[in-house]
Amino acid sequence: PAPGWAIEADVVVVGSGVAGLTTALRCAAAGAKVTVVTKAKLDDGSTRWAQGGIAAALGDGDTPQQHLDDTLVAGAGLCDEPAVRTLVTEGPDAVRRLIASGARFDTSEATGEILLTREGGHHRSRIAHAGGDATGAEVSRALVEAVRVGVPHAEGTGVPHAEGPGVPHAEGPGVPHAEGPGVPHAEGPGVPHAEGPGVPHAEGRGVPHAEGQGRIETIENALVLDLLTDTRGRTAGVTLHVMGEGQRDGVGAVHAPAVVLATGGMGQVFSATTNPAVSTGDGVALALRAGAEVSDLEFVQFHPTVLWLGPEAEGQQPLVSEAVRGEGAHLVDADGVRFMQGQHELAELAPRDIVAKGIMRRMQQTGAEHMYLDARHFGAEMWARRFPTILAACRANGIDPVTEPIPVAPAAHYASGGVRTDLHGRTTVPGLYACGEVACTGVHGANRLASNSLLEGLVFAERIADDILANPPAAGAPVVPGPSGDPLLEHSARYEIQRVMTRGAGVLRSAESLARAAAELERIHTQAVEDLERDHKTAEPCVETWEATNLNLVARVLVAAARRREETRGCHWREDRPDRDDLNWRRHLVVRLTPERT
Ligand code: SIN
Repeated sequence: PAPGWAIEADVVVVGSGVAGLTTALRCAAAGAKVTVVTKAKLDDGSTRWAQGGIAAALGDGDTPQQHLDDTLVAGAGLCDEPAVRTLVTEGPDAVRRLIASGARFDTSEATGEILLTREGGHHRSRIAHAGGDATGAEVSRALVEAVRVGVPHAEGTGVPHAEGPGVPHAEGPGVPHAEGPGVPHAEGPGVPHAEGPGVPHAEGRGVPHAEGQGRIETIENALVLDLLTDTRGRTAGVTLHVMGEGQRDGVGAVHAPAVVLATGGMGQVFSATTNPAVSTGDGVALALRAGAEVSDLEFVQFHPTVLWLGPEAEGQQPLVSEAVRGEGAHLVDADGVRFMQGQHELAELAPRDIVAKGIMRRMQQTGAEHMYLDARHFGAEMWARRFPTILAACRANGIDPVTEPIPVAPAAHYASGGVRTDLHGRTTVPGLYACGEVACTGVHGANRLASNSLLEGLVFAERIADDILANPPAAGAPVVPGPSGDPLLEHSARYEIQRVMTRGAGVLRSAESLARAAAELERIHTQAVEDLERDHKTAEPCVETWEATNLNLVARVLVAAARRREETRGCHWREDRPDRDDLNWRRHLVVRLTPERT
């Protein structure tokens, strides 16, 4: 869409969770002018919903090597070891810096030391937590507060409205190509920074190296639409739709030579998810349309223990943290029988995919719609002190975990894949970075280890900021985007996509279920294309229709990858291919869309 207004920045950060705000704060502290664009309010993303905590080798006897070992096992052969090593070695200091900057973690009254708990797949207690089970909320509070101190705040509040020309140019999901075995993306998925570190840029605008007070401007209620590039294909900013009143209403642009995608996940592609309503895969969709490489989308993690609210429950569902099992809760069936013992040496604390599978198998065997998590033995005092958020969520839904077991079932939780990056968060498009859940840095492989996500956001945000400051990207004037030939989907398509994905590409998949899902998603897209061609009719541009369009694009790519991966590995579970196939499939599926008109 052609922007109606434009502002300038050195760095645009899209998203305001741990990844986005950490990047913004570090860039601004070094003197850069940063604009943070976020779809709702600054604290409305996934970060504030994180319960369990942040994993880091902070405890006595723990080491980054042990954290690395656990992460590699959970990742089921697809982690990029240098990326994991970076995560676990830089993690402890990154957490200490977060604490020093104001985040208050739970500590022992006796010693003052940070309290650490266990979660699935960890052989040690290494999960730091805050507010009992409200870690993300505390991290978000501390970062939002830091951003707001002395930071000018842009308008963009008010009632969303449907305005703004143009439509994004989504196209076919492309055929994922498999990367050769043994060629994981260790250092640089392509040639994003052809000009090399330290080389001065002859032309174009770069990020200043000035030390001292930078600025962070925030634009809330703004959906980012597409990447702007210059004539050489370098990042030159983003277009966005601000839903508010005032000068910066409607479709506009932020021009900048560095764009950091930190838009979170895509859990809303399924009917039931732990993700908030804003997690609609916008960053991955933008990256695909911009021609960036996306990897490992088939690895959707289903959290094993999500409060079960009935077969028709849709949208964001309350999480029951792994930490509840970490503190000793048991999974039982309707007869009170524990079923994870004997399935894995860690029983209920096995990696997440194993526990989710254990629950699904028991549900199939017994014909039940859910299992139970029994933590009555914690008692009222411990429930209130250690898990106040979960206790409140259960009670709000008529369940008292102090006196009864909690009904739980798996639900979509985390995208282990995303926009492919190197160890500095650089994507394959020069000047475009990705950080946090939207990124695929290689640390998660086929299945993320519990509580590694906030850590990944912290560690890689710092690396991205340092890279932008040390090797400032440069860009010429953005090319004015032409009209798109692709339609927007109606808002109602969102629910259709969610049902299709839940039926065909959920915890259990098969060639047949995936083929059905692919056909239905394609039909939704094709129908909209035909309506546009025949009647010049497309859905009214607004957040809901852009989100539905983004969901369909990421869903089609996800399903294409899941069909292609003919094995079971990590959180990708193919009933028709029940075994892990290291000979043929120890490799990544990478997708890049080719622009229609090149
Ligand atoms: C949880 O608290 O169980 C979620 C932790 C995570 O997703 O890493």
